[in-house]
Amino acid sequence: AGKHRVAVIGSGNWGSVASRLLASNTAKLPSFHDEVRMWVFEETLPTGEKLSESINQAHENCKYLPGIKLGTNVIADPDLESAVKDADMLVFVTPHQFVEGICKKLVGKLRPGVEAISLIKGMEVKMEGPCMISKLITDTLGINCCVLMGANIANEIAVEKFSEATIGYREDKEAANRWAKLFTTPYFLVAIVEDIEGVELCGTLKNVVAIAAGLVDGLDMGNNTKAAIMRIGLREMRAFSKLLFPSVRDNTFFESCGVADLITTCLGGRNRRVAEAFARNGGKRSFDELEAEMLHGQKLQGVSTAREVYEVLTYHGWQELFPLLSTVHEICIGQLPPTSIVEYSEHTPNLS
Ligand code: NAD
Ligand code: 13P
Repeated sequence: AGKHRVAVIGSGNWGSVASRLLASNTAKLPSFHDEVRMWVFEETLPTGEKLSESINQAHENCKYLPGIKLGTNVIADPDLESAVKDADMLVFVTPHQFVEGICKKLVGKLRPGVEAISLIKGMEVKMEGPCMISKLITDTLGINCCVLMGANIANEIAVEKFSEATIGYREDKEAANRWAKLFTTPYFLVAIVEDIEGVELCGTLKNVVAIAAGLVDGLDMGNNTKAAIMRIGLREMRAFSKLLFPSVRDNTFFESCGVADLITTCLGGRNRRVAEAFARNGGKRSFDELEAEMLHGQKLQGVSTAREVYEVLTYHGWQELFPLLSTVHEICIGQLPPTSIVEYSEHTPNLS
């Protein structure tokens, strides 16, 4: 009794790495059950085998994280209800567009007192306005939900290269500390910050800036231009976050979830890579097409986030205040050519 049970909802690139990291800790920490259940969105591999069966046999996710052993205590489960039924600590880590549907299926299926954390970088836009993913989880399921964001390219954490992360929480510091204990390893250091919106918006908005950085790479503009785009992007990220949530703190942007994640994603992320290819093709091939061709089932978050941010900007009449965030969307939908990322973003208004 009293031992926590962990389930991970999601088994993509980061979902698999997070499960591996958590399982290495649950195996050691006495207050957790060894097993980590990982919900798998089932698919059939080219061999005819089911992905979940293949993971349980080889202890490896051959599609989303090939070549890395997850640990024998990671158990893949294609049945969402069964994956969560015994858990009291739920880790959400799917592409953001799927969370709402997943949460609806989970209503009434969770144990009482269950707590959640979201590793998902993205937001939903509703009639009533923007809704962060942690809020969507809390509102749909009536459970507390922290967030974990940071400079965390999954493939690097999979081979245990040192990185840092930030947990954002609202009021419940004990819950945040419990999550920090579960996630911390010598190669993964976690700080906690009482600014859930700030942390989550950092992780969400940097994906849009990463698209801009990738466009600049594809245009062969060089390092100074890319650094300028990152600086302008960071300033727009902070201003947008504070307009939405005045409680957002400046210091959050200096945590791993802020400037560090922005840098790593603009240097080595998937959003950057696909945006570079988009610019090299002169915008003639769509992001959807390039994503499917280059990422083999992995998903970009920046393109849909740019659209969601744009909806918020249009609704409030804020587009002119955010030339970089707006221009990324207009380029993604083919309304502007990739070259306009520099022309438009350089005329930045004086955001505080
Ligand atoms: P991914 O992009 O590697 O994989 C896509 C996943 O979506 C697969 O597990 C696939 O099975 C699943 N999927 C496809 N269709 C689905 C459907 N209809 N319903 C439910 N699931 C479906 O995933 P990821 O890298 O684990 O990304 C999850 C989140 O983590 C994203 O918000 C991402 O921004 C964030 N993140 C990723 C990284 C990274 O380096 N990969 C790092 C930090 C944060
Ligand atoms: P990409 O989705 O662009 O690869 O970014 C990964 C990430 O969030 C690193 O922290």
